[in-house]
Parts: sequence; C-alpha cells; structure tokens
Amino acid sequence: MRPDKILMCPPDYFTVEYEGNMFMDLKNPPDIRKAKEQWNNLKLIYTKLGFEVILIPPAKGFPDMVFTANQSFPFVNENGKLQVILSKMKNSQRKDEVKYFKDFYEQRGYEILNLPEEIEFFESMGDAIMDYKRNKIFGGYGQRSQREAYRIIENYTGLEVVTLELINPYLYHLDTCFSILDNNNVVIDETAFSSDDLKKIQSYFKNVIVIDRKENMNSFACNCHCPDGKNVIVQSGADNFTHKLQTEGFNIIETDTSEFIKSGGSVFCMKMMLW
Ligand code: ARG
Repeated sequence: MRPDKILMCPPDYFTVEYEGNMFMDLKNPPDIRKAKEQWNNLKLIYTKLGFEVILIPPAKGFPDMVFTANQSFPFVNENGKLQVILSKMKNSQRKDEVKYFKDFYEQRGYEILNLPEEIEFFESMGDAIMDYKRNKIFGGYGQRSQREAYRIIENYTGLEVVTLELINPYLYHLDTCFSILDNNNVVIDETAFSSDDLKKIQSYFKNVIVIDRKENMNSFACNCHCPDGKNVIVQSGADNFTHKLQTEGFNIIETDTSEFIKSGGSVFCMKMMLW
C-alpha cells in the first residue's frame, strides 16, 4: 500500500544554532524569510501533484523539526494496521522532537512502537528508506543509525532490511546519497558506499544512476524525492543529474531548498509519506 499523504512541519523555528553535520556552519546561517518561501513552494509542489499535505505544529526550540523524515518510521503491517516506530535521535539537540511526533501519530490512530533500550540511535527515513514496490527497506548505518537497529526494524515490520554502511562523513544519512525513483531506477552518490555495498545495490536495481560527487555536494540532488514513480522533485541547478533523469523518462520538478541545505537537508528530508 503506497502512502498518499505528505507530512511536513512549518519552518517557524528553523535555524542553524549548533553544528550537527558537515554542512551546518554557525557562520553561515539560513535566511529565514527565504526559507519560509522555499518551504511553501515545496508544499505547493506536493499539493499540485495531488498529495494531501498534513502539518505537524512546529515546536519552539527545535530548529530541525522541519526535517520530518527523521523522527518516525510509519508503516502498514501485514494485517493492514497503521504502526509507527519512533526514532532515537543521535544528536542531543534533536532528541526531544520525537515526543511531538508520538502525540501526532497517537491522534491519527497509529500504534506506537518504541525501540528497546539497547538501541541508542536510529533516525528513521533519513536512513531507513522504504522500497514500497519491493516491500523492502534499505537501511543506512554507521553514522546516525546503528546497524543493530535493523534487526528490530525487521522484527517490527516483518520486512527484509538491506543494510548499507555509510562510509563518507559528509553523506551522513542514507537519503543524502540514495534515492529510489521506481522499481528499476535508483540514484546514488557512489562515494558513500563500500564496493561490496555498491554491488548489493546493483543486484536490486536494473539501473543505478550515479551522480557526480561534486554535483551532489553542491546541490544535495541525491536528496531528491520521487513520490509517484514519475515526477522527481529536486534542488534546482543539478543540470547533469537532471539531464540523466530526463533521459530515463522522468519529469523533473526543480525547486530551491538552499536555506535548508545550510542545515544539511533538502527535499527528501523535509517530508514524510503517510497513509
Ligand atoms: N540538521 C539536521 C540534522 O543534522 C538535518 C537533517 C536532514 N535530514 C535528512 N534526512 N538528511 O539532523
């Protein structure tokens, strides 16, 4: 069952006030007025594509709450029941975001699943990317999520997890270097993975589209999102990349997320897909 709703969080309190990844720089703060405009544009893109956009109210003191890919892992279980696994955020500044998501999901009738104590960090769809067609999860580990978390995720969801180690400190979440477009196509930044894991990826996808490392660093284009197997929403300006995707038959929707890139996130991080 493919999700048909998009969860976003308004950027009312968005800013960069600590340095939690290689992109966050206190000397390069986002322009908040511009960020709000960019966020509204992204929301409009999803609405125009026919998705219902649901909002979680932003909470003061949580500048990263706008990145709704990270706090929760919602899914539909074998019996058609809505369930959600709550994240354990690695950085202390983000840990308490999760409780707002717990409340949100409770109100929507999801059953809440907590990770056991021995799992210290797991950042949901930043690292655990659903392949809705294959009914599998691709799970990045080594930076914001622990490999051990995926045994639990497999147990809770009943789905197989294909684990991928993230070896490049810049590409700290799987969604900074891996985006599934459809059954056949995935885009990756090769510098994130070991050669064994690259082979693993190739064994699942007929066409592995490789983005130039510099282009990904400049544009965060691997953080693109294809919500329907046709349209790819991507940070504007990654011309070689978008050209490759067009050749494969995808429709490109460029949008500017430059203010959020200053915090280490772009399109894929700014939403969660829901039922
Ligand atoms: N500043 C946020 C952090 O470091 C950005 C999160 C971006 N999300 C993502 N899925 N890559 O946690």
